[in-house]
Amino acid sequence: MKIIVELRNIFVHYRNNLILEDINLKIYEKDFLGIIGPNGGGKTTLLKTILGIIKPTAGQVLLCEGLEKQNCFGYVPQTSHIDYMFPISVLDVVKTGRLSKNKLLKRYNTNDLDTAVDSLEKMDLSKYHNNLFGSLSGGEKQRVLIARALTTNPKILLLDEPTSNVDSKVGHHFYELLNELNKEITIIMVSHDIGAISQNVKKVACLNKKLVYHDSKEISKEMLEKVYHCPIDLIAHGVPHRVFPVHKEDE
Ligand SMILES: Nc1ncnc2c1ncn2[C@@H]1O[C@H](COP(=O)(O)OP(=O)(O)OP(=O)(O)O)[C@@H](O)[C@H]1O
Ligand SMILES: [Mg+2]
Repeated sequence: MKIIVELRNIFVHYRNNLILEDINLKIYEKDFLGIIGPNGGGKTTLLKTILGIIKPTAGQVLLCEGLEKQNCFGYVPQTSHIDYMFPISVLDVVKTGRLSKNKLLKRYNTNDLDTAVDSLEKMDLSKYHNNLFGSLSGGEKQRVLIARALTTNPKILLLDEPTSNVDSKVGHHFYELLNELNKEITIIMVSHDIGAISQNVKKVACLNKKLVYHDSKEISKEMLEKVYHCPIDLIAHGVPHRVFPVHKEDE
């Protein structure tokens, strides 16, 4: 399996505060990596470091040969800055994803339109083309923003808390869409939803300044206790036991 992104001995500080400490991570092509961890643990900072938005104090982010950080990533930030009240259609929101490709672009061409339509279809939003973005539900908006990120044909998709507006019923459909995308695209997803993460991703990493990662999708009690620094029962509340492989006899 080909390594698509590698983080080597990454340290990030904000002023004098150490936010990320000696992060080492190999992400393989077509991985679906879930990153969990407490608020303020550095998850968003880690994504921004991978994207090159934040320059690490030490360490390196290496991309596989042939990839350039300017165009290999699709990124859906934790909170979007799109003005929800502005009357813009779903299709127009998705088309804006094409603007970064060519800053001089004055008008969209048919290729831009086709790509936007195609991206909407991938997120199962075809029937919403002409709806106003502001009128959609939170979960639908998030899917639109993922469609927008797909319009540059990224090799790696970075999603920061995409499920914060998705309930468990819709969540199943949402993960089906992501799994379909994952056949072609590497996905790195930050989420607080430990249960959903463990059932839908291929690998899990826990982050709280340091990264605890075992190159597998199993989340052990020890991993969680290391990053959350509190008794596991507090975090595991409501999480099915099968998250913890050591508890198999409880299933
Ligand atoms: N621009 C900044 N300047 C100074 N400190 C920052 C800045 N951005 C983030 N921080 C701090 O860095 C730490 C990590 O923040 P980050 O946003 O990466 O956490 P997170 O794991 O994404 O949290 P959450 O789950 O709440 O989204 C926090 O203590 C935060 O206050
Ligand atoms: Mg965050």
